[in-house]
Amino acid sequence: MFKKMKGTYDILPTEVAKWQKLEKVIRNVSKIYNYKEIRTPIFEKSELFHRGVGEDTDIVSKETYDFIDRGKRANTLRPEGTAGVVRSYIENKLYTSNVPVQKMYYVGNMFRYERPQKGRYRQFSQFGAEAFGSNSPQLDAEIIAYAVSILKALKIKDVNVHINSIGDAESKKNYKEALLTYLAPDIDKLCSDCQVRYTKNPLRILDCKIDAENPILQKAPKPLDYLTETAKIHFVKTCNYLTAMGINYTVDTSLVRGLDYYTHTVFEVKANLDTLGAQNTICGGGRYNNLVKSLEGPDTPGVGFAFGLERLMFALESINFTGDPDYLHLYMMILGEDQKEDGLQLVNRCRLGGLYTDLDFLDKGMKGKWKQAANLKARFVAIFGEEEQKNGTINIKDQETGKEETIKKTQLYNYVVAELMKPSSNCEGCSTESCDECEDV
Ligand code: HAM
Repeated sequence: MFKKMKGTYDILPTEVAKWQKLEKVIRNVSKIYNYKEIRTPIFEKSELFHRGVGEDTDIVSKETYDFIDRGKRANTLRPEGTAGVVRSYIENKLYTSNVPVQKMYYVGNMFRYERPQKGRYRQFSQFGAEAFGSNSPQLDAEIIAYAVSILKALKIKDVNVHINSIGDAESKKNYKEALLTYLAPDIDKLCSDCQVRYTKNPLRILDCKIDAENPILQKAPKPLDYLTETAKIHFVKTCNYLTAMGINYTVDTSLVRGLDYYTHTVFEVKANLDTLGAQNTICGGGRYNNLVKSLEGPDTPGVGFAFGLERLMFALESINFTGDPDYLHLYMMILGEDQKEDGLQLVNRCRLGGLYTDLDFLDKGMKGKWKQAANLKARFVAIFGEEEQKNGTINIKDQETGKEETIKKTQLYNYVVAELMKPSSNCEGCSTESCDECEDV
């Protein structure tokens, strides 16, 4: 028996409704914030990620799925969405649009060769958003507000927004020098990963999990202390705008994030929920003012985030999130071989009219067919046998009320539609859009 590859998982038909509902919420909130969907390829030229995300980041140096294609080109399965969106923004010259601030979102699979555990996979899904063309801290605040709105719409509580600034290029340079000088005498007292980071990616030392409690790191200089005046103003304004919008956040002076492209604001959303396990960062993002230029585009600022959808799903377990219920409008029972052609015409007519319709393909007996109708949660069951064919009728039963009738077979579609339009017995006869009982009619 073939088994799925390590770090991957199936979403079975019984579970897919939850994912569809999650995506529905994502799309609704994105519309509210006026972010448009973009779909970019799952693989790109390897160099895009090397230059975009950063050669020395864990993601690129240890975790990419790389392959050489038959044309001897180096390809990489996307480990994240930002680099591909930036590539597309540049290649399609979206910066020339008459909408100068381009706001986009995406939902799709990403691939990282990581050690799998709960909430950490090799193929996983992200919902991400990117906004290009403005360096205003209003946009930093908007992107965080957008992420928080997603969680509100999903009714996920117990989340904390952690925010920090690593500043512009000059601030980053000054900070890096200060950090290297500070750590030089003690670097051999830090973990082996940090010793490698010291030469390759010193900022990442700050969020080392192994040395988190080490006083050497706790007393290390922090990026906020090395911000230029402009960077400081940017950060203060971002925080003020968040406060003005009523968004709670914690300034986390050690937050640096694992991708090289960030400048100014960086943030993460962490959830304190038992259903999540150790991987409790459900969203990460920040500003990247040099990325578009470094990938050969115009000098254009950008800011964005990405949620891990599997982690959101685990968070949703804590609030009993369910997908829209599965059901059929009509289950058709065709009782004999000679009735199949006429019966199929009836089924076809109902489907063309939009009724969710199914039937038996295994020539089961009556008992088996009734069982199927119940398992598929059919509201109406139509019975079409020899007698009905002779009389041009069809027998129909409403599984909700138990009402049974014999009607003309040509009326089947209209009959089911008319019955579905009647307020359900559970409904109090309202006409509000949000009424679950009426919604699907
Ligand atoms: P990231 O922090 O690498 O950022 O990933 C964002 C989120 O994806 C994480 O917070 C986590 O929820 C989820 N995630 C990451 N790796 C895995 C994995 N192996 N399994 C399951 N979930 C995972 C980015 O990817 C940036 N592109 C975000 C961004 C967009 N920054 C600006 N724009």
